Amino acid sequence: MKKTILDICCGSKMFWFEKNNPRVVFCDRRAEQHTLNDRTAKSGQRDLVIKPDIISDFRNLPFSSNFFSLVVFDPPHYESVGNNSWLRKKYGRLEGEWQHMLRDGFLECFRVLKKDGTLIFKWAAVEFPLLDILKLTSVPPLFGHKSGKHNLTHWVAFTKPE
Ligand SMILES: C[S@@+](CC[C@H](N)C(=O)[O-])C[C@H]1O[C@@H](n2cnc3c(N)ncnc32)[C@H](O)[C@@H]1O
Repeated sequence: MKKTILDICCGSKMFWFEKNNPRVVFCDRRAEQHTLNDRTAKSGQRDLVIKPDIISDFRNLPFSSNFFSLVVFDPPHYESVGNNSWLRKKYGRLEGEWQHMLRDGFLECFRVLKKDGTLIFKWAAVEFPLLDILKLTSVPPLFGHKSGKHNLTHWVAFTKPE
């Protein structure tokens, strides 16, 4: 089956209905496994498995241009989390010149998208507001939707510019 969907930082694929969807290439910059304490789990613990198809950096994706019909970009959104925190293990952390990192990530998304392709960007505005993050790409968003307990999680759709 042709893989025409790309998740450039899949983490543990929490939001995917089919975690081994054969049409998707799952990428992340790490492959890791952790056991996290979780009161909602029967045993009180839950395994966190980060197992991408390809280990890659979203600033420099190992794919040719103009290929994917759908790209998913859900980068880390926390800066102030501890080295050993479950938040960092689950979502990664914004470090150093992270605005540059996100800017380069957006550029790569639009490079690998084919003409008329769609980018779905997810951002949890816990520490940094969405509008500041949207300034990191010159491509205007099409529309968005807020979700989550505090309406802080934003799902934003873009299409590849002409
Ligand atoms: C918010 S999590 C993704 C959660 C995922 N969407 C899910 O449903 O579970 C962000 C992920 O981005 C990855 N990441 C951070 N910087 C990256 C980079 N430069 N290249 C690739 N992946 C990166 C982290 O390892 C982390 O797994």
